[in-house]
Parts: sequence; structure tokens; C-alpha cells
Amino acid sequence: MNQQASALKPIDFQAWLDSRVQQVEDALEQALPAPDTLPGRLHEAMRYAVLGGGKRIRAALVYAAGEAALQSTDAAAAQQIALDHAAAAVELVHAYSLVHDDLPCMDDDTLRRGRPTVHVQFDEATAMLAGDALQPLAFESLASMPVAPALVVQAIQLLASAIGSQGMVGGQAIDCDSVGCVLEQAELQQMHRMKTGALLEASILLGGIVAGASSSTREGLEKYASAIGLAFQVADDILDVTADTATLGKTAGKDALENKPTYVSTLGLDGSRSLLQELRDEARTALLPLGPSAASLACLADFIVGRDR
Ligand code: IPE
Ligand code: IPE
Ligand code: MG
Ligand code: MG
Ligand code: MG
Repeated sequence: MNQQASALKPIDFQAWLDSRVQQVEDALEQALPAPDTLPGRLHEAMRYAVLGGGKRIRAALVYAAGEAALQSTDAAAAQQIALDHAAAAVELVHAYSLVHDDLPCMDDDTLRRGRPTVHVQFDEATAMLAGDALQPLAFESLASMPVAPALVVQAIQLLASAIGSQGMVGGQAIDCDSVGCVLEQAELQQMHRMKTGALLEASILLGGIVAGASSSTREGLEKYASAIGLAFQVADDILDVTADTATLGKTAGKDALENKPTYVSTLGLDGSRSLLQELRDEARTALLPLGPSAASLACLADFIVGRDR
């Protein structure tokens, strides 16, 4: 056992993940409007976009960061509810970003999570509006967290800045403008950090905020988040080339087809894979000062770089 692993509490990661996925599925079900409330078709599309699929990695990161900050898997009841709200919020934003990412004017994808994309299943206007409506729902979820108002404001501010023009949406704009271009590695890194890293980082930091993390814990979480945020999109770029459509639940080989600059097109497969391992090591090293309760974050780092979909 290496030094990093020996510092962590042993956990049954699959059982841990299954229970957190169930927790956020319940929270999402509660947050989403019922299908029989008006406007029915819009609500149906929102529910279709969010429920029934997705690895829920961002939610898992919220819970894991919360546990690391609390030094326990047993949050107080109010903190547990707040973590559920934060986990639901990041999955609502993520689902919205995928609905828009798949639109014909963006990546023009017809398959997502093993099913027709929202604009195919419904129509383009409904897909656009479903995405639009998921975004404020995420902020409603954060606003109703039963924690100190100052923490709620911090959480809202953090998520808002992570997903705006200097974060996720800005990254998506750069992605759209980069089709057919060759990017320097630094430019590619900037785009990935914005379009994907920012929301993943926010998920981790939200868990810390809700759990009232100390400034030294926040510092460790920030370093972990920075490595994991980038690693996630590097893995996504690799999987686009190496995995098949059935496993991915989305069309494989799409990046090359659309002429997108990716880590694979810039560094090659081997170069991308070694970068991924470096980022994993960086993430795990950042957890060392956090102690044994960072075990689920450490397992998530391995899961994110080793995933097959
Ligand atoms: C896919 O994210 C989109 C990216 C930001 C790379 P995920 O791989 O987390 O998608 P789901 O939620 O599991 O479907
Ligand atoms: C998606 O990146 C990033 C966001 C949705 C913000 P990709 O376009 O690479 O994601 P996939 O491959 O379609 O899931
Ligand atoms: Mg895209
Ligand atoms: Mg896409
Ligand atoms: Mg991709």
C-alpha cells in the first residue's frame, strides 16, 4: 500500500457511490416539477433531461467533499439536506448544459445517456426552454438549503460564477469557435477548465461550503478540484476515441467527425493518458492534508480517470 492509500479510511466505494446516487435521484425528483403541472410538455422535457441516466459524478463530488470537510460520513440532519440540495443543483446545471450542448447549433447530437437527445425526443424550442428552466431551478435548490444565510449566498455566488461567461458557458463559446482550429495545449487547457472543469470544481467547493470547511480544508479541496476538473474532460476526450457508442450512451468518434480540437488531437492517445495519470496523482496528493475522511474523494479520482463511459 502506498503512502497516499494508507492515510485513508478503507471504504466500499461501489456501495458508497450507489447510495449517493440514490440520494441525489431522490433530491432531483423532489426538485423537479411534477409532470402533470402546466406547462406539461416543458416539465416532461425537463424530467426527461434530468432523470433516468447519468453517472451523477458531480453530485458524488458534492457529497464526498462534504464528508471530507465534516471528517465524517454522518452529517447533521440539516447539513445532509443542504448537501442533497447542492448535489441536485449541480446535476440540474449539468443536465441543462448537456441539453444545450447536444442542440443542432452546438454539437448536433442525437444520442445522450443511451436515449434520443431532448431536441430529438421533443423539439428544438422545447429543448432550449427545458435547459433554460433547469438553470434557475438549480439556484432555487441552493437558495433553500437549511444552512446559515451567509453560506447560502456563498454557494449561489460560487455556482453562478462557475457556469457563466467566465466559466462553463464561456468554455462552450470557445469550443464552438475552435471547430477546425489547432489549439496550443495552453489554450486547450483553458477551454477544458472553463467548459467542464469549472462546474466540477464548483461541485467540490460547494460540498466544502455546506459542510463549513476550514480554510486549510478548502485549500486542499481547491487543489484537488483543479486537477480533477481538467482530468474529467481529458478522460472524456479519450473515451470519445476509445469507447463505443453503446457503452458511452452517446455517439462515439464525434469529436474527430466535427473537427474539434481535443487532448487526443493535440497530445495523442498516449500523451493524453499519461497526462490523466499525472492529474490523478496531483488530485490524490492534494488530499493528503485532509486526512482519512477524504477516502471517497480519493476513490472518485480513480473512478474519474479509470471510467469506461
Ligand atoms: C459529459 O459528462 C459531458 C462532459 C462535461 C464531458 P458526464 O460524463 O458526467 O455525463 P453523464 O452525466 O454521466 O451523462
Ligand atoms: C460538454 O463537452 C461540456 C458541457 C456540456 C458544458 P462535450 O461536448 O465534450 O460533452 P459530450 O462529449 O457531448 O458529452
Ligand atoms: Mg460540446
Ligand atoms: Mg458534446
Ligand atoms: Mg466529449
